[in-house]
Amino acid sequence: MEYRKLGNTGTLISELCLGTMTFGGQTSEPEAKKIMDRFSEEGGIFFDTANVYTGGKSEEILGNWLSEHDRDDYVIATKVRFQSGKSKNSIGLGRKHILKSVDESLKRLKTDYIDLLQVHTWDPVTPLEETLATLTGLVDSGIVRYIGASNLRAWQFEKALGVSRERGLEKFVSLQPQYNLLSRSTENEIIPMAVNEDVAILPWSPLKSGVLSGKYTSDMQSPPEGTRLGDAYKSGRKTPWELNNNQFTWSVVTTLSNVARKVEKTNSQVALNWLLSKKGVTSPIIGVRTMDHLMDNLGSLGWKLTKSEMAELDEASRLYVTYPYDLWSENQQRSGRMKDLEEIE
Ligand SMILES: NC(=O)c1ccc[n+]([C@@H]2O[C@H](COP(=O)([O-])OP(=O)(O)OC[C@H]3O[C@@H](n4cnc5c(N)ncnc54)[C@H](OP(=O)(O)O)[C@@H]3O)[C@@H](O)[C@H]2O)c1
Repeated sequence: MEYRKLGNTGTLISELCLGTMTFGGQTSEPEAKKIMDRFSEEGGIFFDTANVYTGGKSEEILGNWLSEHDRDDYVIATKVRFQSGKSKNSIGLGRKHILKSVDESLKRLKTDYIDLLQVHTWDPVTPLEETLATLTGLVDSGIVRYIGASNLRAWQFEKALGVSRERGLEKFVSLQPQYNLLSRSTENEIIPMAVNEDVAILPWSPLKSGVLSGKYTSDMQSPPEGTRLGDAYKSGRKTPWELNNNQFTWSVVTTLSNVARKVEKTNSQVALNWLLSKKGVTSPIIGVRTMDHLMDNLGSLGWKLTKSEMAELDEASRLYVTYPYDLWSENQQRSGRMKDLEEIE
C-alpha cells in the first residue's frame, strides 16, 4: 500500500480507502471487523462512512472496531447533509443540523475527533457562509481536522472555496465524486477543477456498484439475488441495473474483460488500476461486501496497466463530447497559447 497526501494538507492517506456503506446492512458486524482487520494489516489507514449509512450502524461498527485499535493510526472520514432524524431540522447543512449530526457521529464512532468531515451534497437552502462558518468552528475547537465535500458540481465547489477565501474560513481539502469506467463525465469539470485547486479526489463506486466486476452479463434478465443490484431489483428500487443495462455498459465490460484476460488480473483489479492511474485521483473508496471482494480488490495495487492498455480502456469508455468540451482540449489550449507566446517573442 502506498500513501498520498490528502490534497494540500500535511496528512497522509492510503491509496485505497475502505468504504463502509454496507456495514450493518449486507455486511454483518463480525464480517466487517474481519474486513477492517485485513485492510489495516495490508496498510490501509483511510476509512469512509456517513451519518446516514445503514441508519448509523456503519459508524457504530467502525467505532466498535476503532475502540479496539489505536485511533490515531487511522484517518476517519464521515459525512453530514441527508436526513438523520425525524425533525424538520435533522437535514441539511444549517448550523443546527451539522452540530447535532457531528455530536451523534462522535458517539457512534467512539472518538473525540473526526479527521475529515464531508458535506454529502449541496444544500440549496442554507447560505454557504453559515455552513462554512459552522465547519470552521468545528475545526477550531479540535473536533474536526479537515473539511471536504461530496457530489458537488465544480461551480459549487469553487464558490465554496471563494467564500472560504473571502471570509478567512476553512477550505474544503477533498472532493468525493462518482468516478469509474462507466461514469467519466466527472472528467469534464470536476477533475480539472480539483487538480487546479490541489484538492484530493476520492472516487466513490469505483466498480459502479459491482457492474464492472464482470459478474453481470447482457444476457441476464435481472441481476442475481445475493448481490446489491439483485437485492435492490427485487425490492423494486431503481438500481444501477436499469440505468446500466445498455449497449455502452456491455461494450465497456467486454473490453475490460479482454484487458483483464491479457494482463491475467480480474475485471475489478483492472477497473481499479485504471482509476488509480487517472489524473488527480488520490484514493478510490472501495466497497466490499465480503472478504473475498477485499482480497480481490487489493490485487489492484503494486502494478500498472501499460499506456496502450489504458488507451484501450479509455477508448472503450469514452463519452460523447459535448460543448464546450468539443472546442479545444486542455492540451490544445495549452499548446495554442504557447505558440501565441512564441510568436510574440
Ligand atoms: N458520497 C456518496 O454519495 C457515496 C455514494 C456511494 C458510495 N460512497 C462511498 O463509496 C464506497 C464504495 O461505494 P460502492 O460500494 O458503491 O463501490 P463499488 O466498488 O462500485 O461497489 C461495491 C459493490 O460491488 C460488489 N463488489 C465489490 N468488489 C467486488 C469484487 N471484487 N467482485 C465482485 N463484486 C464486487 C459488492 O456488491 P455485491 O456483492 O453486493 O454485488 C460491493 O458491495 C461506499 O462504501 C461509501 O463509503 C459514497
